[in-house]
Amino acid sequence: MSLEEEILRRRTFAIVSHPDAGKTTITEKFLWYGGVIREAGHVRAKAGKKFTTSDWMKIEQQRGISVSSSVLSFPYSSCQINLVDTPGHQDFCEDTYRALTAVDSALVLIDSAKGVEPQTIKLMEVCRLRKTPITVFMNKMDRDSLDPLELMDEVERILGVRCTPRTMPIGSGKMFKGVYSFIDDSVHFFQPDTEENEIRKVSGIHDPQLDEWFDEKYLREFREQAELAIGASDTFDREKYLQGEQAPVYFGSAINNFGVKHLLDSFVAVAPAPMSRHAKERDVLATEPRFTGFVFKIQANTDPKHRDRIAFIRVCSGQFVRGSKVIHCRTGRQVRLAAPTSLLANDRTVLDEAYAGDIIGIHDPGLYNISDTISETENLAFDGIPDFAPEHFCRVYLEDPLRSKQLQQGLHQLSEEGATQLFYPLSGPIPVLGVVGVLQFDVLKFRLEEEYNAKCRLEPSTIYQARWISGDATELAAFRSEHGFDLAQDKKGHLVYLCPNEFRLQTVEKNYPKLQFDKFHVE
Ligand code: G4P
Repeated sequence: MSLEEEILRRRTFAIVSHPDAGKTTITEKFLWYGGVIREAGHVRAKAGKKFTTSDWMKIEQQRGISVSSSVLSFPYSSCQINLVDTPGHQDFCEDTYRALTAVDSALVLIDSAKGVEPQTIKLMEVCRLRKTPITVFMNKMDRDSLDPLELMDEVERILGVRCTPRTMPIGSGKMFKGVYSFIDDSVHFFQPDTEENEIRKVSGIHDPQLDEWFDEKYLREFREQAELAIGASDTFDREKYLQGEQAPVYFGSAINNFGVKHLLDSFVAVAPAPMSRHAKERDVLATEPRFTGFVFKIQANTDPKHRDRIAFIRVCSGQFVRGSKVIHCRTGRQVRLAAPTSLLANDRTVLDEAYAGDIIGIHDPGLYNISDTISETENLAFDGIPDFAPEHFCRVYLEDPLRSKQLQQGLHQLSEEGATQLFYPLSGPIPVLGVVGVLQFDVLKFRLEEEYNAKCRLEPSTIYQARWISGDATELAAFRSEHGFDLAQDKKGHLVYLCPNEFRLQTVEKNYPKLQFDKFHVE
């Protein structure tokens, strides 16, 4: 296979969902279709079990297969799929957002009984920022669910992307009978837990055969909804999908393996192959022969016996060959990527080659920062990964005043590495740490003590959210004098508003219309 063919068959995506929508379940079905696991059973969470590890570890623990916590790579059809993990439960953190900067498209998974939920809203903000192409799967149709039109309306209103239904359900809950596919005018009959569902072609939604197969009540409801949906939505337009403006929508039930294969087939047919990526110098095409990539995640080992770290790199162009020398563009240093880890779903072995679209994990001796570019020959700087507004804050107090230098050094390095965000209030000397997921604090405290020998106390702060401020100079000066007490600088010196509550945030947004209060900050 030529380099170009290898690259163009890659589909790198992530699942965007709220905890319990069914991400683990659908992932397992995907792996089963990819031939990685032989039996796609029901992954059960033990009662009271804490979801502190990656959701995918659940599969690992319960099914005895080895699953990388960062990416699952498996073949499907003629494609090579890279499914990048978005840690969801209590391990929701900045890495969850960052994972979305390493993919070319996303699958939004929605629990049909609950509709659009908070974590999905947050993650979709990143997708919208990057114009990521979105596919929507309405899961759990075997349970009493919201009206399909209402579900799509929520996606449009709350997530801000136009929906184009590719299937529509016939009945729901106990009376869920199947879906109608607009792609080829066919009916997929709901037969729980079967490998292949029966599919019959029809001439359209008014085909009289449907009257023979389905109860009048559900059929009438389906026809009304289908007509309304067709009338209200645009036909599927791949260009609009690729621009992130329009999302194809599917209905099904992951646990019953219903609609999953249809989704996967349709997904690989339209989802983008690795896309070009913007660097300061120029746009880099995925199919260029020279290897380039960027760091989107750094995983530190909290086991003191193994202090190694892994830097996860998204390959942006060309082919990576094991042992080759590359430039670490930020420092200009030449490094040899000696033993990158393969992140295949069935094993974690050393990798000999990887292509644009793939994710590789390399040993990090402390060289890499989030957003660093590495490149075979050319000095390049890919657009940085944004900082995401933290939602949990605390102030750091040193227990031993003599270790102040170590604490400063630790905080600086951990923030460079992307493990926390650091804010220096204009009104006082105690730095504020901000994180997206509250569990990150435990890791930070541990690392400050273990790696920097700086024993410290982290005291929760009542700050509500951080927003990066920019805009009109006169308003900014007025804002500074009125809210100076709540202002801070981030590690690069940008002005940040540490707002005390939601009400205050809304008030300042109203009172200072020429200022922007951004949730993301891109360097
Ligand atoms: P997550 O990774 O997104 O957090 O979700 P996960 O797959 O763990 O699924 C959450 C729960 O939803 C699981 O139940 C799972 O069995 C169930 N589920 C997933 N897909 C479907 C579906 O299509 N229909 C129905 N009815 N349920 C689905 P659980 O937490 O293990 O509890 P239990 O249902 O086994 O008691």
